[in-house]
Amino acid sequence: MLDGKKVLYSGMQATGNLTIGNYFGALQNWVTLNEEYECFYGVMDLHSLTVRQNPTEFRQRARSLYALYVAAGLDPKKNCIYYQSHVSGHAELSWILNCFTYMGELNRMTQFKDKSARHADNINAGLYTYPVLMAADILLYQSDVVPVGADQKQHLEITRDIAERFNGIYGDVFTVPEPYIGKTGARIMSLQDATKKMSKSDENPNASIYLLDDLDAVLRKFKRAVTDSDNEIRYAEEKPGISNLIDIYSAATGKTVAEIEKEFDGKGYGDFKMAVGEAVVDVLRPLQERYNELLKDKEYINSCIKENDEKAQYFANKTLRKVQKKVGLTEKIR
Ligand code: TYM
Repeated sequence: MLDGKKVLYSGMQATGNLTIGNYFGALQNWVTLNEEYECFYGVMDLHSLTVRQNPTEFRQRARSLYALYVAAGLDPKKNCIYYQSHVSGHAELSWILNCFTYMGELNRMTQFKDKSARHADNINAGLYTYPVLMAADILLYQSDVVPVGADQKQHLEITRDIAERFNGIYGDVFTVPEPYIGKTGARIMSLQDATKKMSKSDENPNASIYLLDDLDAVLRKFKRAVTDSDNEIRYAEEKPGISNLIDIYSAATGKTVAEIEKEFDGKGYGDFKMAVGEAVVDVLRPLQERYNELLKDKEYINSCIKENDEKAQYFANKTLRKVQKKVGLTEKIR
């Protein structure tokens, strides 16, 4: 709790370009949460180091992610939006929590298995302990809730296990966080293979819609999206392509599945794909306009970063000092 409000924490990696999966699964749901919660959102640049980055591009991407948060409607005066790497407590707490996490637990992480298969030439220790850094992010701010897409649920479970284990030994040090999964868009799938989640790192450019994609390209990609042969717009397990498009349309327009099925009753896939494309373009156009304006206003973004880095550092340090004391590290002589 902070100022009588529950604390909410989330963030995104500064790797690759954000997709509508990130937007509908996360960002879009975050925008109004600050009314109810004290919100912290990180640009997770330390996590991005688990994959080799080109330093210049990486810096630009982190900045772009910050601007996208703001362009999507997160007000930096009402939400603490900051760089993970600017708050040293993340790495410090992560080390301590590493010593309270079992290899058996980390071995079970499906994302580690997937990522090590994809980056077979660079299975580094950071990739393996990635969930511990994520636990540190969340626990540093005594977070009550963590809004994430379904793919991050396992990481949240391990965070809870680590927090409970630590509390079991040292008393109530950490708030044990709960997941917060948005109503729509919890899992947006690839447009080319609806059994795979839409990902920033997909090699097929037609599989993902990027937030900064050219808007004509967005329409084109939807036209090419895989469907099935029965030409009926109906939500069903055996129709993953169409169900995914219904999910996207629902996230973009706020309409329910039943309303969408009714709207497209008797219509063909061509019409439907066109409508989904246009609905997504209607979301992306204002977002891109705002983003382009923000990138020009360097001073404004810099002042937001500075102010929020300091705020995050203050809260993170409070928890870190408490943890250091509990585990018996000697206090600095001041
Ligand atoms: P990341 O950067 O992969 O994704 C950011 C957020 O977007 C959601 N997401 C999706 N939702 C629906 N459909 C999709 N296709 C899709 N793809 C991504 C993710 O669930 C996530 O909510 N490890 C995290 C970043 C992180 C973090 C944290 C999150 C680091 N520390 C602490 C919360 C709290 C990650 O890689 O997210």
